[in-house]
Amino acid sequence: INAFTMMAMLDYPYKTDFMGSLPANPVKVGCEQILTHADPVQGLAALVGVFYNSSGTAPCYDIYQLYQPCADPTGCGTGADAEAWDYQVCTEINLTFNSNNVTDMFPEMPFTEAMREKYCQSKWSVSPRARWLRTNFWGGDLKSASNIIFSNGDLDPWAGGGIKSSLSPSLIAITIEGGAHHLDLRGHNPADPPSVTEARMLEASIINDWVKSARMEKAWEKLAGTLAGGAL
Ligand SMILES: *[C@@H]1O[C@H](CO)[C@@H](O)[C@H](O)[C@H]1NC(C)=O
Ligand SMILES: *[C@@H]1O[C@H](CO)[C@@H](O)[C@H](O)[C@H]1NC(C)=O
Ligand SMILES: *[C@@H]1O[C@H](CO)[C@@H](O)[C@H](O)[C@H]1NC(C)=O
Repeated sequence: INAFTMMAMLDYPYKTDFMGSLPANPVKVGCEQILTHADPVQGLAALVGVFYNSSGTAPCYDIYQLYQPCADPTGCGTGADAEAWDYQVCTEINLTFNSNNVTDMFPEMPFTEAMREKYCQSKWSVSPRARWLRTNFWGGDLKSASNIIFSNGDLDPWAGGGIKSSLSPSLIAITIEGGAHHLDLRGHNPADPPSVTEARMLEASIINDWVKSARMEKAWEKLAGTLAGGAL
């Protein structure tokens, strides 16, 4: 499952090495792997190998050994980043997804709230805080916030949980066509689709406007303060 989620999430138009080693356009490469094998099971194994056998030295795959359990059933990645994400998913973000081999093509892997609770207790000695996002970040009343850009790439499976249309003139949704997970926040690459270059320019100009009007407000406050002081 991790191979599929990683390849979909990290479907960048260039090679990456920050969460495993993936070629450019890994989803396309994976599909090509399936198509080059006459036996679909061999093809599927080759597709999984795009993620799990990037070294070309894996003798075999044991999914139950390769799957690293954590509080995010789609996988937490590797290293210190993975630990941080695991803790955050144990405390702030409810990701109790699972696979059931009925509505999906993966083996049944339940992940219930009780399992999450148990895992988080044993790993971090913490209990997930129900409704934390709603409470701490006003998730139930996002419209009361201001100056947020919600950007999503349409290739990113996480976009399903994103804010896809603007909520107010200062709560702005941007969809990046052909964009994987936070492609706009990555550095420039010659293989970037034009959509992400445009999105980055738009984001920069929106943020520039916010900073300008905040400065203007400050200047007005200062001026008003000086005038009031002078009148006294
Ligand atoms: C991993 O890649 C190598 C080189 O292509 C291949 O010989 C080997 O069979 C692959 N391992 C698996 C488990 O498919
Ligand atoms: C998934 O479901 C199919 C059809 O019901 C069954 O034949 C197969 O053994 C199941 N696979 C797993 C890994 O549970
Ligand atoms: C966590 O998510 C699951 C699945 O969407 C949902 O059934 C459950 O009510 C959620 N729990 C909390 C505490 O928000």
